[in-house]
Amino acid sequence: MTSTGKARGGERPAARQKRVWDKAAPGYDKQISFFEKIWFGGGREWLGQRAQGRVLEVAVGTGRNLPHYPADVTVTGIELSPAMLAIARQRAADLGRDVGFQEGDAEHLPCGDASFDTVACALSLCTIPDPAAAIGEMKRVLVPGGRLLLLDHIASTWPPVYAAQWLFERITIRAAGEHFTRRQLPLVRAAGFQLVETGRLKAGTVERIHAVKPA
Ligand SMILES: C[S@@+](CC[C@H](N)C(=O)[O-])C[C@H]1O[C@@H](n2cnc3c(N)ncnc32)[C@H](O)[C@@H]1O
Repeated sequence: MTSTGKARGGERPAARQKRVWDKAAPGYDKQISFFEKIWFGGGREWLGQRAQGRVLEVAVGTGRNLPHYPADVTVTGIELSPAMLAIARQRAADLGRDVGFQEGDAEHLPCGDASFDTVACALSLCTIPDPAAAIGEMKRVLVPGGRLLLLDHIASTWPPVYAAQWLFERITIRAAGEHFTRRQLPLVRAAGFQLVETGRLKAGTVERIHAVKPA
């Protein structure tokens, strides 16, 4: 399924994702906080510590990375789902943080070329319909030398876990467009980024990527 193709039933992938995430929004924080404890621990802090300058967070969701960005960066959040975005706006207000939010599609970022020093994206390239297109857009909006910071769950290096992920995603792809056997690193390389730092955790099912757009 690509960003331009139609999903089952004639619904376009981005429209489907918007519908799925609007529905999931009220329960998302509770659900993901459990997985942050057992699966993604330290990932949001890792990402925040590496952000600098003008930061664009793609698929910002309910804004769970916002508390982890340094005070001296400016943050813009793009998100497909208005319901997720409404929660992110409230979180930013509660934090007293001035964040520029905009509804938009990661595959067609509503941002100018070379307009950000850092692009961050967490736990979303697993569900964005065309992750290669989104990574291409992230590169376009970064300044030369700008940082790409990714955190996501990916295919395990351990065959029994990989098999379970493959079976599980037979259900989740159909139900919610959620993939468990993707890996973003080859896409980041293919897009022409230079890798600075990568790390795999949790039987290889979680990957952190820090790359730069060549100057
Ligand atoms: C699992 S949530 C992650 C949210 C947030 N990044 C976090 O770390 O908690 C995935 C998010 O990706 C968003 N999303 C999916 N497809 C998208 C697209 N094409 N453009 C922008 N956001 C998208 C969903 O609306 C949802 O908020």
